[in-house]
Amino acid sequence: MVNSLQHIAIIMDGNGRWAKKRLMPRTVGHVKGAANVRHMVKACADAGITYLTLFAFSSENWRRPAEEISALMGLFLQYLENEVAEMKAAGIRLRVIGDRSAFAPLLQSRIDQAEQETAHNNRLHLTIAANYGGQWDVLNAMRAWQVAHPGKNLQDLDASGLAAHLSTADLPDPELLIRTGGESRISNFLLWQTAYTELYFTDVYWPDFDAAALKKATQWFEHRVRRFGRTDDQVAANPESPATPGLGTTPLSPPHFNIS
Ligand code: FPP
Repeated sequence: MVNSLQHIAIIMDGNGRWAKKRLMPRTVGHVKGAANVRHMVKACADAGITYLTLFAFSSENWRRPAEEISALMGLFLQYLENEVAEMKAAGIRLRVIGDRSAFAPLLQSRIDQAEQETAHNNRLHLTIAANYGGQWDVLNAMRAWQVAHPGKNLQDLDASGLAAHLSTADLPDPELLIRTGGESRISNFLLWQTAYTELYFTDVYWPDFDAAALKKATQWFEHRVRRFGRTDDQVAANPESPATPGLGTTPLSPPHFNIS
């Protein structure tokens, strides 16, 4: 059986090294990386993917040199200014997750505008994680849950209650996470949402990650055995994946066993 795939998340790594290899400034790598965002959105739409979530700027990326941060902010702004009209026409809905309050007012207003203008689209849901951190997302969700349930205490919080307040509450969890650039870590991306995600690491630098590379990743994914806690034999007998794995109201409780 081939696994179905509707949501891909990508850690777009390797822009700096792509540029360094060509004796160019790191920012040139980011320019190429931003151009590749456009290509990848098209490639995913063409491949019938419904959700694409991209890690553009982590909450830890503020530690980078000021010129690089400002180049990345400029590219993000430019991307919104150049792409939104086409996204509207192509049925792409844009969302941005992360703490946008740290961004310049102009960037914040362009983000709001882009989200509003594409809000009715549903061919491809493009989510850009910017000033995003998975730990921030979980903490934020817990705080939001507490505000929404003033009379309750943390003993009443369960997995689906928390997930309902994550920044990705409207999105299914990704089935496949791709990280380009040769590193094998999650780097504080979608920590909660990737509990059962298949992780694909490739040495290809982000600016070089093209439709053929995407196809290689999705073909790899299609044949992964996704067990969700079950045994191989159970999976073989019933290959359908359990509904929303990990989102039970409480962790699965052990049944009572009679030990004789
Ligand atoms: C990681 O490569 C990449 C980033 C921190 C930024 C990603 C940004 C873009 C692809 C462009 C802007 C985004 C949008 C949505 C327009 P790195 O710099 O860590 O590369 P390195 O590991 O080779 O140094």
